[in-house]
Amino acid sequence: MLAGMSALPITVLPSLLSADFTRLGEELKRCQAAGAKRLHVDVMDGHFVPNLTIGPFIVEAMRRATTLPLDVHLMMTDPLRYIEDFRKAGADAITIHVEAIGPRMMTEAIGRVRDTGAEVGLAFNPDTNPELWFKHFANVDLVMFMTVYPGFGGQAFIPQVRQAIRATRAQFPELPIQVDGGINRETVPLVIADGATNLVCGNAFFKDPNPSEFLRWAEGCGAVGASR
Ligand code: DX5
Ligand code: ZN
Repeated sequence: MLAGMSALPITVLPSLLSADFTRLGEELKRCQAAGAKRLHVDVMDGHFVPNLTIGPFIVEAMRRATTLPLDVHLMMTDPLRYIEDFRKAGADAITIHVEAIGPRMMTEAIGRVRDTGAEVGLAFNPDTNPELWFKHFANVDLVMFMTVYPGFGGQAFIPQVRQAIRATRAQFPELPIQVDGGINRETVPLVIADGATNLVCGNAFFKDPNPSEFLRWAEGCGAVGASR
């Protein structure tokens, strides 16, 4: 095992943003058939990021079409206003951006997500230093590093974020570290070596000719002795 690697299993989360929404139910079934154990859902409000995507109404429809846990990524200026709605719609994990909350409200925000019964995630934009937020990490279920500027699928991985992943893994050996943006055949081995465990994959999964093989390969990159 490489220095920064975690002993936690590697999990690929297909990001539904890259799915064909004319066939959403079938796409969800395709993820499950390909071996996905968890799915990633991107919520964008047109303020926190310059794009609009889905709300609780669509999450509720997804909930009826799959039994897989739904990991909901709130790219919103006011995420706390909507956490109960997303939880009721079927979110199993709710990830909020630290930039949207700010330091004074963070303890309360984590508590409010926790109170819904969902797992709690904290997300970081590429320019945000996670070390300022380390004191909250014992109270969350995962942290997520944006390896692109959030808002759109299909962007190029930002290598500078690798340092934040390594610094976090060094301090928190047991914490699931999720990465989101530009995670593909080239970057999977890099982020796993840094200590990431949860790999959000939009284009790399949905546009692959064999998504099931991609998923098995990526999750296998975490095995002891895997070539990387
Ligand atoms: C971008 C979203 C991502 C997106 C990743 O802001 O948060 O989840 O779907 O897409 P890829 O994997 O194509 O970069
Ligand atoms: Zn996302």
